[in-house]
Amino acid sequence: MPAVVIVGAQWGDEGKGKATDVLGSRVDYVVKFNGGNNAGHTVVVGDQKYALHLLPSGILTPGCTPVIGNGVVVDLSVLFEELDALSARGVDVSRLRISANAHVIADYNRTLDKVTERFLGSRRIGTTGRGIGPTYADKMNRVGIRVQDLFDRKILTQKVEGALEQKNQVLTKIYNRRAVDVEEIVDDLTSFTERLAPMVSDTGLLLNQALDRGETVLLEAGQATLLDVDHGTYPFVTSSSATAGGACTGSGVPPMRIDRVIGIVKAYTTRVGEGPFPTELDDDAGEHLRKVGAEYGTTTGRPRRCGWYDAVIARYASRVNGVTDLVLTKLDVLTGLEQVPVCVAYDVDGVRHDEMPVNQSDFHHAVPIYEYLPGWWEDISEARTFEDLPANARSYVETVEAMSGARISAVGVGPDREATIVRHDLL
Ligand code: GDP
Ligand code: IMO
Ligand code: MG
Repeated sequence: MPAVVIVGAQWGDEGKGKATDVLGSRVDYVVKFNGGNNAGHTVVVGDQKYALHLLPSGILTPGCTPVIGNGVVVDLSVLFEELDALSARGVDVSRLRISANAHVIADYNRTLDKVTERFLGSRRIGTTGRGIGPTYADKMNRVGIRVQDLFDRKILTQKVEGALEQKNQVLTKIYNRRAVDVEEIVDDLTSFTERLAPMVSDTGLLLNQALDRGETVLLEAGQATLLDVDHGTYPFVTSSSATAGGACTGSGVPPMRIDRVIGIVKAYTTRVGEGPFPTELDDDAGEHLRKVGAEYGTTTGRPRRCGWYDAVIARYASRVNGVTDLVLTKLDVLTGLEQVPVCVAYDVDGVRHDEMPVNQSDFHHAVPIYEYLPGWWEDISEARTFEDLPANARSYVETVEAMSGARISAVGVGPDREATIVRHDLL
């Protein structure tokens, strides 16, 4: 099975990191193809817990080569902090490869991310403040700084000068901040080049050659479908392509080489940051999900907004990504509820919508239409086969599967690697 894509099917934090880690031992390459250190993946291996932001989750698997693809934006200080922290814990990080075409997050873009959010006030996006949006904007605006630029000080200086020509005007005249010094930025960026040099390569070539040899490549998305800049709830999105199409542009692996797309979907829904969320719960039920599911952001520590499962967005994500298999995570969090509501459609001003409304304003005031499924009380965290689950939990999985546009091939019943029920082989 040559190339497989993993994507988030909701608003992120579905458990992509755990899914990648579970498959890690069976793949040769794990590639991060979008986003940057706005992501937060918690991976639990035995009694060890790892929080990854920029690095692909495959870094934890011995023998697997982790790759940062051209579609990623790289914060160099975070990169080396994460690598050093993992090395100190005995993880071998020597295999990491980074695309020469990936863009780097310069300090002025972190500043711009934060001041823009403050300026927006009530219209803010609730970004992670890591400089993601401004760095992607520079890329599209053709004033970005790429990894390869760091190795030629003259070119780098010219590029930083070019970028700052406009930004310093914006920083000083609009945001009342001090102007940024070109040399300071260049010094900052080049302070990493010696350590970076051996990791930099033509990762598109590397991955295609690996596929030619019959090796397996797993392309792991950060963020998720509803946070995708094209397919998400714009403008309340991140600034990259977090869907399956982004796996191709962000890695250099062409569409025809991709055999499988695995969508990760939580048994309920969460969202961090601003933006519409039809099944959001502002009551005790939402607090219950947050508490039992430990729904606090890995990156910013913010409490995640919680709500019931939304089959409309799951169907949408299955369609947009061409999902072949879904992994339903955190089923264990739903244990102990009398009834479990599942959103099957929306009511928008008295009109039923079975699919995502075309107009975003309709989505903003969509009222969920729920079906109520019977709950279960048995502890399911030790279940390892589908048959181990109580009848109502099985029927929850089957009912949700019928509504979600793809088969549910695995079910998560706990944070640990082992706490996974496989119904259909994923590789
Ligand atoms: P990602 O960003 O998609 O990789 O997801 P996060 O790591 O941000 O959030 C998922 C959280 O749920 C992590 O803390 C995981 O350890 C945890 N998790 C993943 N799968 C399961 C599961 O099946 N059950 C439980 N209880 N926790 C899980
Ligand atoms: P993982 O990979 C959840 C959200 C932010 C904000 C919006 C834009 O762990 O699923 P940005 O800093 O990217 O410009 O912020 O996107 N966001 C995430 N929410 N999980 C993530 O990543 C996220 N990455 C960004 O909260 O609403
Ligand atoms: Mg996360």
